[in-house]
Amino acid sequence: MDFFLDTALVDEIRAGLEMGMVDGITTNPSLVAKTGKKFMDVVKEILDLVPGPVSIEAVSEKAEDMIAEARDISGLGENAVVKIPMTEEGLKAVRALGEEGISTNVTLVFSPLQALMAAKAGASYVSPFVGRLDDVGEDGMSLVSQILEIFDNYMFETEVIVASVRTPTHVLTAARLGADIVTLPYGVLKKLPKHPLTDVGIAKFLADWEKVPK
Ligand code: G3P
Repeated sequence: MDFFLDTALVDEIRAGLEMGMVDGITTNPSLVAKTGKKFMDVVKEILDLVPGPVSIEAVSEKAEDMIAEARDISGLGENAVVKIPMTEEGLKAVRALGEEGISTNVTLVFSPLQALMAAKAGASYVSPFVGRLDDVGEDGMSLVSQILEIFDNYMFETEVIVASVRTPTHVLTAARLGADIVTLPYGVLKKLPKHPLTDVGIAKFLADWEKVPK
């Protein structure tokens, strides 16, 4: 299972890479806005820093504009993946970009049928937003389960990125379901190695070590 970081903050990316737990990055316009930096500066910095795939979102709404934007984004680095919103225009763009060999991540996926269409269009990745579904009283992880079942039925190569992750439980459930990738806010990544009993155990072992004659 790959872990991506869902951030555009370079300090978080560096820290995640040092932990050895970051296989790629996902960004979106909201995350880029949080950096306060120019779009191109942020994107180039991240693409240079990260060896794995980096998803960068196209903001056009018409397929032909998305395609032009995607070509520009893709030209910035071999690891660039273009995020395309799940719309009819987006599906047209995904198919055309796939034929050009440009990797795409279909974003804002909230239903299994949206994911099926994205896979049929040839998307490299789909991003179901689990946290935002949970926020409105739906079950985000049930969506992931249905997408994995569909992709397995038809042996689609499209990879599932579990996105809009809010808690370690989302990560655990994604792993148990066999999702290809989770994209994590840095705060969630930091929680994953922790367990209170580990801290208690370390404190006890260190205290006992003091009693060992040396
Ligand atoms: O990057 C896409 C997704 O992970 C956004 O998450 O927390 O804004 O719903 P969130």
